[in-house]
Amino acid sequence: MAKQRVLSGVQPTGNLHLGNYLGAIRNWVVNQAEYENFFCVVDLHAITVPHDPKVLAENSYAIAALYLACGIDLAHANIFIQSHVRAHSELAWLFNCITPVNWLEGMIQFKEKAIKQGDSVSMGLMDYPVLMAADILLYQADRVPVGEDQKQHLELTRDIVTRFNHLFAAEQPVFKMPEPLILAEGARVMSLTDGTKKMSKSDPSDQSRINILDSPELIQQKIKKCKTDTERGLSFDNPDRPECRNLLGLYAIVSGQTKEAVAIECREMGWGQFKPLLAESMIAHLAPIQAKYQEVMLDRAYLESVLRNGREKAEAVADETLAAAKKALGFSLPL
Ligand code: TYM
Repeated sequence: MAKQRVLSGVQPTGNLHLGNYLGAIRNWVVNQAEYENFFCVVDLHAITVPHDPKVLAENSYAIAALYLACGIDLAHANIFIQSHVRAHSELAWLFNCITPVNWLEGMIQFKEKAIKQGDSVSMGLMDYPVLMAADILLYQADRVPVGEDQKQHLELTRDIVTRFNHLFAAEQPVFKMPEPLILAEGARVMSLTDGTKKMSKSDPSDQSRINILDSPELIQQKIKKCKTDTERGLSFDNPDRPECRNLLGLYAIVSGQTKEAVAIECREMGWGQFKPLLAESMIAHLAPIQAKYQEVMLDRAYLESVLRNGREKAEAVADETLAAAKKALGFSLPL
């Protein structure tokens, strides 16, 4: 039986942080052998907010290198850059014409980001989820492993499938219905400076996040300074201690222990004892990823060949789906 397909992506906006890694990429890696995987660097999404053209290409390469460094295995996965496969933009346009504007106006991430940008908010930012639907549906993905914050975008993708198939492909559906794959652990990594806010690339304070490529000294310093409380004894159970819950959760993942084991280990600890322990485990967990990243970034020819190969495989699948969508919509064939 053919394997189910997985598609996911990360934006090349600055460094990846722990949320991106634990909420998404780590889960891609854990399950990769079960699926046929497409992992893209979503550079078209990165220009929905003001961006610097001088670093866009380099950032895309860096994210692709991080995919490899985190353990994506080319025996199971294709890695490519979204803008290299033109079908993404084209299918997004087709979807634009069947997606009601009011489906997009209410999207949480749009509203949050739009507030920050005032009058200069772009059409592209509002359209972001439609492009994301195109990314997923071009590959007829069965599963989409993401963090919790992407749930609403996946609902929209599913609504687009229903609408397209209903309006234009009732007899033979063009698009497959994708399912989100959101694992409980790491689905919502919180900020180091406020345990009620998610860790985010757009937080102006770098102290609020741990980036995958942060040096051991910086990780130590960020954890030392991160927000905690005055209680002694650490536990997952108290909803009034969001920082405690978040930091214990991170410790469980990076030290490879269950939450139950961590709850027992830390129940009598104070922060002075716990923080160095967390920093040490975090540094040890990230060290091999950082080493592999440096290695991949030094071999540009290899990285380019990975991306070329990925693009070819992606394009073959994407072009076929796009052709079926255009046929269903009644377009003439190019002469
Ligand atoms: P991006 O780059 O903002 O985030 C990439 C992935 O990281 C997850 N994530 C988190 N998970 C847990 N805790 C956090 N604090 C946290 N912050 C971010 C996100 O859920 C995401 O999985 N829109 C997507 C990119 C995209 C995409 C797609 C994803 C474009 N097309 C198609 C899947 C399929 C995004 O949020 O990127």
